[in-house]
Amino acid sequence: MKNAATHKSGHEDVAPRLPAGSHLPVHIAIIMDGNGRWAERRFMPRSFGHKQGAEAVRRTVEAAVEIGVPYLTLFAFSSENWKRPADEVNDLMWLLRSYLRKEMAALHAQGVRIQFIGARRSLAPDLVALIDEAEALTAQNQRLVFTIAVSYGGQDDIVDAARALARRVAEGELNPDEIDPDLFAAELSTAAMPDPDLVIRTSGEQRLSNFMLWQSAYAELVFIDTLWPDFTRQDLEQAIAVFAGRDRRFGGTDAV
Ligand code: FPP
Repeated sequence: MKNAATHKSGHEDVAPRLPAGSHLPVHIAIIMDGNGRWAERRFMPRSFGHKQGAEAVRRTVEAAVEIGVPYLTLFAFSSENWKRPADEVNDLMWLLRSYLRKEMAALHAQGVRIQFIGARRSLAPDLVALIDEAEALTAQNQRLVFTIAVSYGGQDDIVDAARALARRVAEGELNPDEIDPDLFAAELSTAAMPDPDLVIRTSGEQRLSNFMLWQSAYAELVFIDTLWPDFTRQDLEQAIAVFAGRDRRFGGTDAV
């Protein structure tokens, strides 16, 4: 099993600006929620909330780089979000395109590696081309691995992994008795990264909504009331401080 307690990131030399002694998570994953409510409270269309949400994404990535968090994953569009009205889906897809076009070079210059997880086959070809470009451009960067989950569903991730293992068994390459959590995790879309040790959800809702279901098995969950467009570096630091204050026992009796 991969977890922050065993993972060696190689980023220990990056100095955080949090209070001395704060215990930094290795992988922060965020369920960005509340764009719609943020806009509605201002009598504005939901698309305005998403636009401001993209600004919060920019701020958060910058903060993660400065604080020295090695892995950041943001849930930008779930496999269920396709059920939203077509206009809203289009707005979100345009925001992703515009974010990548505007930010790709700057993120590359800062040493950020950009990657995507989720069902790429369901995205428009030009967006997939942009994603491929961003991933290829930043592939060697190591300061922050920034993963954007788009058309992502935790159950789909698990089912895809099960299917891949079943195929290997059917081809005679794998004995079913050899399947264990490590082998399973190696087939997930997140195989190359440590599991999130801190999952943050904004807007006061307290659920995972099909996000990183397997990977969050031992994550600390922090729910905050801030709506995503208002999320700041202070919110991030506060969530990290909450994480640092928790006893992490991974099912044992000793805090890690
Ligand atoms: C949840 O708020 C948010 C989303 C479904 C989309 C998140 C997308 C962004 C923040 C912008 C684009 C992303 C990137 C990476 C540039 P909601 O609409 O469900 O809010 P509500 O619960 O208040 O209605």
